[in-house]
Amino acid sequence: MTFLMRILAIESSCDETAMAVVLKQDGNFIVEKNLLATQIEMHKLYGGVVPEIAAREHVTAIFPMLLALNIDHEGNGIDAIAVTYGPGLVPALRIGVELAKTLAWVWQKPLVAVNHLEGHIYSVWSIEKSQISNPTFPALCLLVSGGHTELILMKDHGQYEMIGRTRDDAAGEAFDKVAQLLGLEYPGGPSIAKVAEGGNPNAIIFPRPMHDSGDFDFSFSGLKTAVRVYRDQHPECSVEDIAASFQQAVVDSLVDKTFAAVSQFHPRSVILSGGVSANQSLRSTLRDKLVDRFPDIAFHAPDLSLTGDNAVMIAIAGAQHVLKKDFVDPLTLEADPNLKLAKN
Ligand code: KG4
Ligand code: ZN
Repeated sequence: MTFLMRILAIESSCDETAMAVVLKQDGNFIVEKNLLATQIEMHKLYGGVVPEIAAREHVTAIFPMLLALNIDHEGNGIDAIAVTYGPGLVPALRIGVELAKTLAWVWQKPLVAVNHLEGHIYSVWSIEKSQISNPTFPALCLLVSGGHTELILMKDHGQYEMIGRTRDDAAGEAFDKVAQLLGLEYPGGPSIAKVAEGGNPNAIIFPRPMHDSGDFDFSFSGLKTAVRVYRDQHPECSVEDIAASFQQAVVDSLVDKTFAAVSQFHPRSVILSGGVSANQSLRSTLRDKLVDRFPDIAFHAPDLSLTGDNAVMIAIAGAQHVLKKDFVDPLTLEADPNLKLAKN
């Protein structure tokens, strides 16, 4: 007999309002609806995300988006609701959480609460016709986004151990801040990656902070300062070379620590995810080095349409919670801006 479960997922943790309807059919996920309203144009004016503006924009976008899903007044066809409840910006998170609670209560549907980072990890699970196989455990996850840079050992579904993290800026934040000081548009990741295509990644040897720290932690704020100092001292240097050399330093730092963790923990798969996983240099360096040094370890990165924030990944992660009957009470669920994936 075929197992069918249809999940409505809602995501509003930062500057994207997203909703998806995803059907789990046995082991496969079919994306029936995938809606996204980005606020990037709004936040560009300020060079970063302004929480109160984000919340206001979510309020404007979320109801028309719900209507566009064409679900009837009783939620027929929906088996469960999944919502991101942290980490993120609390005024933004609340918009999605309150809608999910209301729908779950009115429709009398089970509600599951999803950690945004867990969502990013599940963005690599196979959807629709993709023939790729799902990660096997233990999986080592390099999660790189605007707010997080973490190495997580995932021993099974829902079992996470944090083995390394950034001590200051996240990798995406470093891209955003360096882009701003180079006069490039927000978000900085795509801007830097584009400009870097015309530059020499070995033109300037920027520091690889924490390289010899002996643990799996990262640091990017010193690198950002090094770029600023270099730019002030060498105004003649091309933005292309600075962008390419900065990107190379970030990629080297991320890849080196990931390989140190691979050597220590011997995972069966490596998962790269989060907004920065859209970076082609990071993707290809990690993939090529893994194939070269550890051909038995499978490499997984999300489809480019799922690297940034979206609700499909929240639905896929939510499905695991539904299977475990890990439901939450719609009357008491609260957004948690500092939600952790692992206790340590
Ligand atoms: O996961 P995400 O969409 O939002 C958060 O949860 O933070 O990640 C956004 C981050 C931004 O800092 C953005 O600059 C970065 O991902 N990013 C990239 C690229 N595309 C987006 N960083 C490097 N290269 C890219 N191609
Ligand atoms: Zn994210």
